[in-house]
Amino acid sequence: RKPIRVAMLGCGTVGTQVMRILHEQADDLAARIGAPVELAGVAVRRPNRHPDVPAHLITTDAEALVRSDVDVVVEVVGGIEPVRGLLLSALGNGKSVVSANKALLAEHAADLFAAAESSGADLYFEAAVAGAIPLVRPLRESLAGDRINRVMGIVNGTTNFILSAMDATGASYAETLDEASRLGYAEADPTADVDGYDAASKAAILASIAFHTRVTAADVYREGIAAVTPADIAAAKTLGRTIKLLAICERVNGSVAVRVHPAMIPRTHPLASVGGAFNAVFVEADAAGSLMFYGQGAGGAPTASAVLGDLVAVARNKVSGGRGPGESSYAALPVVPIAQV
Ligand code: HSE
Repeated sequence: RKPIRVAMLGCGTVGTQVMRILHEQADDLAARIGAPVELAGVAVRRPNRHPDVPAHLITTDAEALVRSDVDVVVEVVGGIEPVRGLLLSALGNGKSVVSANKALLAEHAADLFAAAESSGADLYFEAAVAGAIPLVRPLRESLAGDRINRVMGIVNGTTNFILSAMDATGASYAETLDEASRLGYAEADPTADVDGYDAASKAAILASIAFHTRVTAADVYREGIAAVTPADIAAAKTLGRTIKLLAICERVNGSVAVRVHPAMIPRTHPLASVGGAFNAVFVEADAAGSLMFYGQGAGGAPTASAVLGDLVAVARNKVSGGRGPGESSYAALPVVPIAQV
């Protein structure tokens, strides 16, 4: 069968790992998909920063790459623009999209799904929430026959690293943030992590797919961890508790409430033992009962694993002529206003 041609937008920590796995596992992936995967091009802003990408694949013209003869666009750039326009154009032209972009999905999922719907393309985004942990597909597909009532957990590795270290050492927030930056956990600009924006985007995506409705990042009540002091941590300890940044999505009287904030949890709770940059999410559903998802929520290879899984799924759909799930917006549930959460 003719190859599935893939355009990749971005080639940072995650993209580099996607390329490596595509290369190393080429034969296995082809066997699983029923067609070889061919990387048609890699769009980057600064080509001289990517000596490992073969010169014939590299381009700065993402628009032309997306418009070229490709079947799938893999997006590992992040941020809203110019990615939003590129992906809308790809989806509108029948190209399936695999995206790791939580900010984009948390704000513009409805438009992206509408574009996918117009052409019959697939939109997959497992890597946008909790890195390697399968969470988006279980919520969209495995649990689609159940009624989910609550999704709650730790979805940001950087803040979990900081809070775990503060709990272990008694050090201040500022000292621990420096340590997190030194070890490469925190981003150069850690604002999105420590102020809870990253977790709020992930919570919006999880709530939308779990409750079959539309929740955007702006609907999410959000508090970060910058105000957590060693005294707070010590007080929590005397109560047999620890402090974690939690994302909580729940049904409340026919509405949906979504929030991100530091919370004291009993040290015996399974979330209390989630350390370092790991993520863990509980899902409570009527028939399934409680489920716990745990694993590496960030990092190049773990996130690339989720991207590759999505790539296999959309490529298989291209081969079979099938299609994955569209937007899960069957019942527009009201979102509880932030002031009332
Ligand atoms: N900055 C994110 C985190 C990376 O720390 O969890 C994964 O989205």
